[in-house]
Parts: sequence; C-alpha cells; structure tokens
Amino acid sequence: LTNMSSNITYHPSPVTPTIRSSLRRQQGLTIWLTGLSASGKSTIAVALEQALLRKPINLNAYRLDGDNIRFGLNKDLGFTPKDREENIRRIAEVAKLFADSCTIAITSFISPYRADRDLARQLHEAERPGGEKGVPFVEVWIDVPVDVAEQRDPKGLYKKAREGKIPEFTGISAPYEEPLKPEIHIKSAETSVEDAVKTIVKYLEDKGYLS
Ligand code: PPS
Repeated sequence: LTNMSSNITYHPSPVTPTIRSSLRRQQGLTIWLTGLSASGKSTIAVALEQALLRKPINLNAYRLDGDNIRFGLNKDLGFTPKDREENIRRIAEVAKLFADSCTIAITSFISPYRADRDLARQLHEAERPGGEKGVPFVEVWIDVPVDVAEQRDPKGLYKKAREGKIPEFTGISAPYEEPLKPEIHIKSAETSVEDAVKTIVKYLEDKGYLS
C-alpha cells in the first residue's frame, strides 16, 4: 500500500466484512462493465440495476456511471491516458466502498486500458487489513465491433472524432485493449439488453452471489 502521507494507520473495527454481510444478509460485489462508447454499457447497466433492485431478486444495487462520476467526483479529469487511469482508479475505489458496504456496485465506463482494469480488480480482491478476504469483481466485456458502434453513434461523437474534432477518441484515435479473461463476454450487436441482463444474473446466481 502506498500513499502520499505518513503517520496514517488503519483503525480496526469489530464489524469485519464477513460479519457485516451476515448482518445485512447481502453480499457486496462489483460488476465492472467495459466496452467502447455506444457499446450498450449504460443501457445494460440501467436494466441490470433495475433487475437486481426489483423483486424477485430484491437486492441493493447502485450504478456508477459518467452522470454521477464525470460530472462530480471526477469533473477535473479529461481523456488523456493519465486522466483515464486516475478516472478508473477513483471509480474502482468508490465501487469497492459500495461493495464493502454490502451493495452490488455496477460500473459502466469505457475503461480502455487493461492495466487500469486489472488494478480495479486487485483493489477489490486483495486481502484486507486484518486478513479478511476481499470482495468479488466481475468483469463484463460489452463487446461491439467499432464499425457497429460508429454506425449507432447516438451522440455523434464518432463523426466528430473522424473529423478530428475530438482528440484521443477510443476506437478511432485512442486504443481499446480488449479484456483477455473477462468473467462474462457479451456480444452486444447480437444480444438483446434483456438477454444480456439474464446472462449476468445467471452468472451471479451460479456463483452464489445473490443468495
Ligand atoms: S474512460 O476511458 O473509461 O475514462 O471513459 P469514461 O469515463 O467511460 O467516459 C466516456 C464518455 O465520455 C465521452 N467522451 C469520450 N469517450 C472516449 N474518448 C474520448 N476522447 C471522449 N471524449 C468524451 C463519451 O460520451 C463517453 O460516453 P459513452 O457512454 O461511453 O458513450
């Protein structure tokens, strides 16, 4: 663990993550959606959040996305590789806090760099001070060919990027590093939102995360 300040220490608590989960009867985890702009991440995240919140599943879930992060916590960040790294690092830390508090955190950010996603995973899975295990991190690749995303172009951003009006646009003039071993791989051009949600929910059920 590294930090910029010295003389800080962890304060122990009798409410360990295991005890907290048993008191809340819900296990926290993070569902990390990654994919190109216009891949369908946000649409799937919204539908997934609803499915988890509503009966019959009826669990606490909370979505982190550009609306509450890039307009708030991360409004000082742009789209250089360094800024994206910091964007993802902060989001990962926040998602981890939600997961630690027994909520299902759902994040939907491009998160184009493998190293940044891997750091997010490590933050979640690492053993905690006191020897408690971490929380699950479920990486979901919302996979769409760039040309399909470009045809969809709901915000006209691909067009602007092609015209050189948006520098470093993911998929056009900045890289997207595909996940190598995501827990779930959804080909969004061939899958309905409903089926994408079913696939994710089935994975969570099979893992025992929803019971
Ligand atoms: S990242 O790479 O994870 O830090 O990006 P993220 O926080 O998800 O923000 C992506 C949204 O910002 C808009 N936008 C851009 N995307 C990619 N590259 C560049 N240069 C860029 N500039 C602005 C774009 O609307 C993305 O929204 P989504 O919802 O993904 O379409």
